[in-house]
Amino acid sequence: MKSATILHPLLCIGAAFLSSAQAIKLNKREDGEPRVVGLQLQRQHISDPVAYDKARSRLRRRQEGTVDVTIDNLATLYYFNASLGTPPQDIRVHLDTGSSDLWVNSPNSRLCSMQSNPCGVSGTYVANSSSTYEYLDSDFNISYVDGSGASGDYVTDTIHITGVELEQFQFGVGYTSSSSQGILGIGYPSNEVQVARNNKAPYDNLPAKLAADGHIASNAYSMWLNGINATSGSLLFGGVNRAQYQGELVSLPIERVGDEFNEFYITMTKLSLGSTTIQEDMALAVLVDSGSTLTYLPDDIVAEIYNMTNAVYEETEGVAFVPCALGEQTANMTFTFSEPASIAVSLNELVIDFADLTGRQLSFSNGVPACLFGVAPAGDSTNVLGDTFLRSAYVVYDLDNNEISLAQTVFNPGEADILEIGTGPDAVPEANLVSAPVAASSGLPKDSGAGTVAPWVSGTMVAGSLAALVGALVLIF
Ligand SMILES: *[C@@H]1O[C@H](CO)[C@@H](O)[C@H](O)[C@H]1NC(C)=O
Ligand SMILES: *[C@@H]1O[C@H](CO)[C@@H](O)[C@H](O)[C@H]1NC(C)=O
Ligand SMILES: *[C@@H]1O[C@H](CO)[C@@H](O)[C@H](O)[C@H]1NC(C)=O
Ligand SMILES: *[C@@H]1O[C@H](CO)[C@@H](O)[C@H](O)[C@H]1NC(C)=O
Ligand SMILES: *[C@@H]1O[C@H](CO)[C@@H](O)[C@H](O)[C@H]1NC(C)=O
Ligand SMILES: *[C@@H]1O[C@H](CO)[C@@H](O)[C@H](O)[C@H]1NC(C)=O
Repeated sequence: MKSATILHPLLCIGAAFLSSAQAIKLNKREDGEPRVVGLQLQRQHISDPVAYDKARSRLRRRQEGTVDVTIDNLATLYYFNASLGTPPQDIRVHLDTGSSDLWVNSPNSRLCSMQSNPCGVSGTYVANSSSTYEYLDSDFNISYVDGSGASGDYVTDTIHITGVELEQFQFGVGYTSSSSQGILGIGYPSNEVQVARNNKAPYDNLPAKLAADGHIASNAYSMWLNGINATSGSLLFGGVNRAQYQGELVSLPIERVGDEFNEFYITMTKLSLGSTTIQEDMALAVLVDSGSTLTYLPDDIVAEIYNMTNAVYEETEGVAFVPCALGEQTANMTFTFSEPASIAVSLNELVIDFADLTGRQLSFSNGVPACLFGVAPAGDSTNVLGDTFLRSAYVVYDLDNNEISLAQTVFNPGEADILEIGTGPDAVPEANLVSAPVAASSGLPKDSGAGTVAPWVSGTMVAGSLAALVGALVLIF
């Protein structure tokens, strides 16, 4: 077995500060090095985050209504470099916590063989150029709500990510594709295409395979996105980096959808802005989704936030604009979950300069520069903690224990201080499970039959235009 990347050469020094009770929780290996795999995430430029989120939200509603697996066909925000096969073929892997398969394009699909080479940026995979390629079946078929998608083979081959090589790793190859960008889903294996569509057993996707092959102790990883102006973040499989958060990690149970754990819903109980409580005593399920640019909350809550911030709601876009100077205020928007879990998001993390994203400077009619506000109304769609929230949070996804641990992020961390996530209950080091978790009473997707795959309704839609599809969605849900 190849050893994993060790990000913190001075772990012993860090561990020396722990009390003995905490040290026991580390489940260190005998050689004392934490088993972790760390990746630097690059942030991708998205020219129109509003349109991007809207499309993603439509996809999400589609997914909830059918318990079928769809993933977005749009640019996901964060990616890293990897390679597949022998000799290695380079790909850019776009990360998605909302889906569970890796799939890559074949250069021979009609889309990828176009002269403009749309798949060139993310890279493609030629199975027969790899001596370690093995064909599994032709069940791979991911569909998008707009009728696009990718289908082809499930295969196994070697995948190389920073410092680690995994052999016989299963993924999909899109021989037919209408998305120029492959995706790496790191969600629950129960959400894989072959499970939802073909009723097959789940296979080990990337985090599960890292655990199965012993590179990490259990299926868990930490995500740190860094501040609004940062161009990169990091993903740490199998560990937590104490330099990247402050205060305590607090663990919250993930909410089941129907009878299953398959998406990252947690329960929010209170929201305040500055010293004003906007709403409390809530038991609202919210989806933790790094693939969403903005944060989406119930309309009544958002109306109050807009009132307090003098945000101007743009109904056609479903978002609000604020004077960019709002970002100079020091107030926090504080999101509370089951006590004591809470994350403070500074107003300057909620004010998005459109000019940075699009090159177009927006302004109000009086000439005051306008910025996009990071919170928008969810309407009758999912409540989402997107990047405008997540950049202020250090998030540990513990899929083995069905828990998410949160702590306040540190934007300019010092030297990495890495602890291994162990196995069994309480696997996340130094994290405490909330003593009285609040169960969600609203906000979860409607259960459309636990464990059963609802009829595949898109067959009637695939030929339609996007506008027609949106109309169809309204009828369906
Ligand atoms: C990823 O690969 C591209 C192209 O080879 C390179 O320009 C880029 O610096 C790499 N990024 C990282 C984070 O290694
Ligand atoms: C790989 O090559 C074999 C033998 O020529 C051929 O049968 C198979 O279709 C090829 N597979 C792919 C995915 O191109
Ligand atoms: C993939 O699934 C879609 C939607 O169910 C279907 O229309 C399409 O024919 C399937 N493609 C393949 C190759 O099976
Ligand atoms: C991000 O950068 C802009 C200038 O491009 C600056 O006005 C703003 O204060 C920065 N935000 C933070 C949170 O540092
Ligand atoms: C904000 O709320 C106050 C008090 O509830 C109300 O009087 C005022 O009209 C609201 N302002 C806006 C812009 O909605
Ligand atoms: C906002 O939250 C941060 C992180 O908890 C804290 O350090 C800061 O003092 C808070 N700011 C205000 C104005 O309360």
